[in-house]
Amino acid sequence: MSLKIVGTGKGIPARSVTNQELSDFLDTSDEWIVSRTGIKSRNICSHETLSDLSAAAARQALEKSHLLANEIDLIICSTIEGDFRTPSLACCLSHDLGTMCPAFDVNAGCTGFIYALEVASSFLAAKKANNILIVCAEMMSTHMDWTDRNTCVLFGDGAAACVVTNGNALKYLDLSVTANPAVLNIPSGTGNNPFVSKPRENGFVNMRGQDVFKFAVGAVETGLKQALHALNVSTEQIDLFLLHQANKRIVDSIRTKLQQPEEKFPINIERYGNLSSASIPLLLFELLEENKIKSGDTLFMSAFGAGLTTGNCVMVWE
Ligand code: COA
Repeated sequence: MSLKIVGTGKGIPARSVTNQELSDFLDTSDEWIVSRTGIKSRNICSHETLSDLSAAAARQALEKSHLLANEIDLIICSTIEGDFRTPSLACCLSHDLGTMCPAFDVNAGCTGFIYALEVASSFLAAKKANNILIVCAEMMSTHMDWTDRNTCVLFGDGAAACVVTNGNALKYLDLSVTANPAVLNIPSGTGNNPFVSKPRENGFVNMRGQDVFKFAVGAVETGLKQALHALNVSTEQIDLFLLHQANKRIVDSIRTKLQQPEEKFPINIERYGNLSSASIPLLLFELLEENKIKSGDTLFMSAFGAGLTTGNCVMVWE
C-alpha cells in the first residue's frame, strides 16, 4: 500500500439555501432540521453543472499539488450520477482539463471517496500511474423529491478533489458491502420502452432514515475496531476522525460511545448538508486550509452509504 495526498480542492455552487428558505415551501422548521441533523444550510446548483464543480475542485487540487493537468496519469470520479449517464463525469472532466489519460467513474454511494482511494492505491502499486486525480462530485438536488421533507432537507451539492501519488501515508484501507438496496436507493426508470409490463418512473431518493442511522453508527464502530486491531493502535492514538457528514447526531453518537473529545471529530455538515461521497474530501480540504492537520497526524476516515457500502481507512499524514 503506497499512497499520499499532495493537494486538495473544492467546487461548491454559489447558491446557499437556509433551513428557513425550505420552510417557506415545506412543512419543516429550522429548529427541527438543526436539532435532528445539525444542518443549517446547504449549497444547491442553480446554474452550475457537476462538470463545473468538478473542474473547479480539480484545478485547485492540481494547483496545490504543483502539477499540470497533463502530468495526471489517471482520473477517478466518484459520483452517484454525472451530468450524463454516459459519458462518465470523469470523461467530461477530462474534456475540461484537456487530459488524455484514462478516466472513469466509481459509484459506491456516499462511500465513493474511500473506494476511489482503494482503486488509486492499486494503480499506484501496479505502477500503472504516478499522479492520480480523484474528484468526488454530487448533485444530490437532482435526486430529491422537493416535496418530501424526510429527505430533501438532508442533502446538498458540491465537489471535492485530491491528487494522490506514491507515498507512505495510507496505512490501512477496508471496504465492504452489507447488501440491502431497499434501505437507501434512487430508482432508475424504464424510459419509454413500450415492451415493459410495468413501467418504472425515474425516481427520487427512498430512505429508511432510522435504519440508515443505526447501520451507520454500528458500521463506523466496527470499522474502527478492525482498523485499530490491524494496526495495533488505540483509539486515543487517532488524532482526527473524519466521518461521513450525514447527520451530526450520527457523529455525536459515535464520539460519545468512543469517549473521545469533540475536537477530534471535525464537522462541516452545518454548512453543506450531506454531500454524499464529496463529504469527507471536502472536510479534509477545509481542515488543511485551516492548518488543522499536521505532518504525523493519524487520521481515521470512515464512510457509509447506499448499498449499503462502508469504507474505512487510516492515514498518517505526510
Ligand atoms: N421537518 C419536520 N418534521 C419532519 C421532517 C422535517 N424535515 N422530516 C421528518 N419529520 C417528521 C416525521 O414525519 C415524523 O413525524 P411523525 O412522528 O408525525 O410521523 C417525525 O419528524 C420524526 O421522524 P423520524 O424519521 O422518526 O425522525 P428521526 O429522528 O429518525 O430523524 C432523520 C430523521 C432522517 C434525520 C434520521 O433518521 C437520519 O438522519 N437518518 C440517517 C439518514 C442518512 O444519514 N442518510 C444518508 C446516509 S449516506
